[in-house]
Amino acid sequence: MSIRFFEKEKAFVIQTKDATYSMKVSEHGHLLHLYYGKKIYDADIEMLLPVQNRGMEVNPPCVDNRTYTFGTYPQEFGTNDAGDYRPSTIELRNPDGSYSFVGTYKAHRIYEGKYSIKDMPSIFANEGDGVETLEIDLVDEVTGVGVTLYYGVYPEQNVITRATKLTNGSDGTVHLYKLASTVVDFMSGDFDMVSFYGRHCWERNFERVRLSHGTTSIGSTRGLSSHHENPFTIICTPDTNEDNGQAYGFNFVYSGNFLFEANNDPYSETRITMGINPKQFDFVIEPGEEFMAPEVIMSYSDSGFSKLSHQYHHIFRHNACRSKWVGKRRPIIINSWEPLTFTFDADTLFAVAEAGKDIGAEMFVLDDGWFGARDNALAGLGDWVVNEKKLVGGLKGISDRVHGIGMKFGLWFEPEMINEDSDLYRAHPEWCLRVPDRGITRGRHQYVLDLSRPEVCDYVIGAVNKILDEGGIDYVKWDYNRSVCDAYNASLPAEKQGEVLHRYMLGVYKVHSGIILTHPDILFEGCSSGGGRFDAGMLTYFPQIWTSDNTDAMARLKIQYGTSFAYPVSSMGAHVSVARNRYAGSVISMKTRNIVAMHGTYGYELDPAKMTEEEKQVCREMAELYKSQYDLINSGTYYRLSSPFGNDLFTAWMFVSEDKSRAFATAVLQNTECNGRNTYIKLKGLIPDALYSVNNGSLILTGSTLMNVGIHRPANIAGSTAYTYIIEKYTGTGSSADEESVDDAAENGYLA
Ligand code: DGJ
Repeated sequence: MSIRFFEKEKAFVIQTKDATYSMKVSEHGHLLHLYYGKKIYDADIEMLLPVQNRGMEVNPPCVDNRTYTFGTYPQEFGTNDAGDYRPSTIELRNPDGSYSFVGTYKAHRIYEGKYSIKDMPSIFANEGDGVETLEIDLVDEVTGVGVTLYYGVYPEQNVITRATKLTNGSDGTVHLYKLASTVVDFMSGDFDMVSFYGRHCWERNFERVRLSHGTTSIGSTRGLSSHHENPFTIICTPDTNEDNGQAYGFNFVYSGNFLFEANNDPYSETRITMGINPKQFDFVIEPGEEFMAPEVIMSYSDSGFSKLSHQYHHIFRHNACRSKWVGKRRPIIINSWEPLTFTFDADTLFAVAEAGKDIGAEMFVLDDGWFGARDNALAGLGDWVVNEKKLVGGLKGISDRVHGIGMKFGLWFEPEMINEDSDLYRAHPEWCLRVPDRGITRGRHQYVLDLSRPEVCDYVIGAVNKILDEGGIDYVKWDYNRSVCDAYNASLPAEKQGEVLHRYMLGVYKVHSGIILTHPDILFEGCSSGGGRFDAGMLTYFPQIWTSDNTDAMARLKIQYGTSFAYPVSSMGAHVSVARNRYAGSVISMKTRNIVAMHGTYGYELDPAKMTEEEKQVCREMAELYKSQYDLINSGTYYRLSSPFGNDLFTAWMFVSEDKSRAFATAVLQNTECNGRNTYIKLKGLIPDALYSVNNGSLILTGSTLMNVGIHRPANIAGSTAYTYIIEKYTGTGSSADEESVDDAAENGYLA
């Protein structure tokens, strides 16, 4: 049992493999947060809460002392307009016009399995995961407004999911302005915060700051999770590195506006909140109605970032996406976008496919430009009808030809958008987000379809499914290329316009469900101008997401490194593109470009016909290497061996099989130094006293040496040189360290 309620103490204790999370109903009925951290074994630690008279804090009417205050006490959920001045967890207007909410404990339920959230994504439980759920009901006695707190406990992954539901038990209309999905009140302020800021073509940069006093927040108000901040943040003790220290992850299962707040208060206590961004959020909830806030996946590591990442990787590979492709080997893609953009016909497309097959590609993806009047970004979005003038023989023609040479065929859509110059807009100008009497804001010349309207969702589902149901499509790239504004739905009354951005997200998920879940054989890849929606919500539908439009290998080292803190390598779309790179202007060797793309789903974004025979041969060999190591890349335990953000000369990473008998490591020289240092690539995750052969016997050493001394790399080599290491448990004899001497070493502490 991971969740227990101690009746006498009225204390809840959640135990995962390495963490304890506890809370308790106070003598006044309020739910206090007690602890979240490394495992402890006491049920009730309320006596450790500081009871102090705090100047300028206020005390609720139920007490006649100056010590019990919502302003400094750790709370499991939080109150509003009742003396808690830290970041709010709930903001609402009651039917009588007041803003107060003070929840008191009413009931709870503990059950096996995982709660689910209607109309929104959340992670699920598999048999054998031992998942349990706790639901706690709090009610404001005066208004009748209730809040239910949800906890889904995955003991092995040290994961506790959180979600919050508001129920309007009052007799009038409630306006909800903010509802946090999670709040954690730590009695310590001694934390660093790691977040992942970025921009188009430069997503998920690792950034670590000390939490100073006051509130540090990250979020998005762009209507999508965004390139700019990722809805994943880590709070950690200052000593935390890859292998040591306490780290707490907060990952929002939502692809729209979000807000993460870390408040280090004047008493050096820290409140964390995460939820839908309250900007322009005003949900009208009538008596008896409910509002459910999306899920947050919290995970705790007692030994640094690597373990935290492993736990999230496990969840995203096993508990998030039901696609049959999650665990299957993904085909090596060649995509038409970078080589051809909008200018192609059936023959030029097929030529790229054929040339792609020659260098190892297994699937040809026809990107943007195949439908409506789509000869450039100005027209066609919304008209999901093939342009037969451009593509003689239609989709079936090109799909048959591609299948005919033994390749799979994939197709690009951007279902949530519309161009003004489209038949759809001419028929339904009211179907895009627009504010009355104002011009519509364009992004990449396009408007946002108003998916808060059910009829628009139905149109999109019908139009895309019509193409997919005709058959011949093995893969879909689902793109999304602008930020949202003009969030107004003309079919809703004025007082409900504050619902539009969230209703829009519900529409997005409805459209995803209506298309993706009804085509279980198709592999769907998410995309948003690269990685603008690389988030947990999307990963419940898409086993892989295009990580960035930036395919420059040196930039990708950073982008993929940052992404790896939460998301598995198996989810990162990564392709080899041309040198000179179209975004960065860089000229990097073909081998290095290939090796960096292997930190992902691997594929090509170029025209092989323009490559030299030597370059083609490199790709063929690299494709074979990728296939031979695929099981490790897709499902091995992943280690970051060095950081592209620091002073390390190399960026290195590796994958280790579950039984630790095999590993695949990579190092790319990122920084060059004149008269440079020697570098040792220290491996991780191996068995210390087992012998390993590196690259077919070129080194035979124990795990302990490979991990503590490392593999030497010379200092004076050309920039961006890349190395790969295939590591296998060594079973032969005749090495400087055979099995006998390893046994001896294990016993005596040295190796002969
Ligand atoms: C943005 C994507 O990120 C690119 O890969 C490509 O699909 C273009 N859109 C097509 O318009």
